[in-house]
Amino acid sequence: MAGIKIAVLISGGGTNLQALIDAVEAGYIEGEIALVISNKKDVLGIARAKAHGIKTIVLEKSTYGFREKRDAALLEALEKNNIDLIVLAGYLAIVPDMIIQKYRNRIINIHPSLIPSFCGDGYYGEKVHEAALERGVKVTGATVHFVNEVTDGGPIILQEAVVVDFEDDTKGLQQKVLQVEHRLLPQAVKLFAEGRLEVVGNRVKINRE
Ligand code: GRF
Repeated sequence: MAGIKIAVLISGGGTNLQALIDAVEAGYIEGEIALVISNKKDVLGIARAKAHGIKTIVLEKSTYGFREKRDAALLEALEKNNIDLIVLAGYLAIVPDMIIQKYRNRIINIHPSLIPSFCGDGYYGEKVHEAALERGVKVTGATVHFVNEVTDGGPIILQEAVVVDFEDDTKGLQQKVLQVEHRLLPQAVKLFAEGRLEVVGNRVKINRE
């Protein structure tokens, strides 16, 4: 199979992983998901990967004890599988700086807000949507960005807005944003696979085909 080799890092249900699997199988993304890595073992995302014959690795704290050992195992898995692109899709463990440096501008993350709003340490999962509702914003959305040493601080690739209705609760808003995420993340991976992303300082230029 031509195209890029992708590793998807997850910690939970994996609906974004599923969107990527569907996009690859539909031929929308030229590449393969060679590896799914989770820091938790019994999560639905692992079952989704196995159902599509994708290799899975679980790197649990309890198994590796020291963080350095787990980080080394993560790097070894990425290098052994010749990974071109790392996608963080609801991954809640910290990506070590040595991997960010080795894979500079080859790691992307999806975040469920319009960065720089409601992002950074402590902003993950439902907490992001709770904060958006609490603040009373009229629009929120999703962001795909390259990963650097600053949590949610890397160059932004794609963003899309979602209108917040007064009736929305946390779960309802999360579902509305997830629908956008499931389109935005495959789009960003496709652009990467086509070599159309150019990082210029802290900005991303999307070049023509
Ligand atoms: C998504 O909302 C993503 O933006 C965030 O974590 C959630 C993961 O959802 N980082 P899923 O596991 O892909 O369903």
